[in-house]
Amino acid sequence: MKDKKIAIIIIAVAVILFAAACILTYNGKNPFAIAASGSSVSGTAVEIGGNADGSTQEEPLPTWKPSGPYTETDELMLVNKQHPISKDFVPGDLVRPKYTAGNRSPDGQYLTREAADAFNKLAADALEEGHEIVITTAYRSYSFQSILYNGYVEKDGQAAADKYSAQPGKSEHQTGLAADVSSPSVNYELTVAYGDTAEGKWLAENSCKYGFIIRYPLGKENITGYTYEPWHLRYVGQKAAMEIGQANLTLEEYLQNESVQ
Ligand code: DAL
Ligand code: ZN
Repeated sequence: MKDKKIAIIIIAVAVILFAAACILTYNGKNPFAIAASGSSVSGTAVEIGGNADGSTQEEPLPTWKPSGPYTETDELMLVNKQHPISKDFVPGDLVRPKYTAGNRSPDGQYLTREAADAFNKLAADALEEGHEIVITTAYRSYSFQSILYNGYVEKDGQAAADKYSAQPGKSEHQTGLAADVSSPSVNYELTVAYGDTAEGKWLAENSCKYGFIIRYPLGKENITGYTYEPWHLRYVGQKAAMEIGQANLTLEEYLQNESVQ
């Protein structure tokens, strides 16, 4: 009888240990855990890194799930220092575009389906003209942005961090409409020097045809609140992007003009 009890206890402990091991293994795939492990710094640019993968296929949503009523994303939605986004906002139709950097975590390379389709066209056409342009990171959850921002504050202090990194809830990466891109010419880094490369110039000239704008342009820091980021693309749809590109506007200026018409 006593032996039977001991055997039952041993089996129960083994089952609990097995379950705990499964949970820990699953958490090891958490995008936040991966993303927090890497960083890339170049010039005045500071952005996130991740693990190598090499995969470039479109894949289903990994671990996060669309939240509440948010199944679509308004392509003109404004998220900046003055206009935060809900902590719970998760776009409902995230997919991974085909053209992604292999040296970053694939879990951070998702865009809304419409933005991803537009980016795939942009990257394919750029490649035809000899320019390899890939996504380093795109969608970032509120929690992920918190980890990043807090790390930058710890490293550089809040005043400096606020010039290049959005506080959680104020990053348009949370919309699924923003992508940081790079190329082999700058070793897939995010650097202000990218603006002077052939790929950076191609983007400045052509991204609006595909519905994207360079969201934080040089000389507009007092409007956007951020230093120049030639790598940060924002999908706004083709009509708005063409108007913004041709008139050399920021999204803030464009929306203000729209609202007074
Ligand atoms: N680097 C941009 C501003 C962001 O953190 O969303
Ligand atoms: Zn960015």
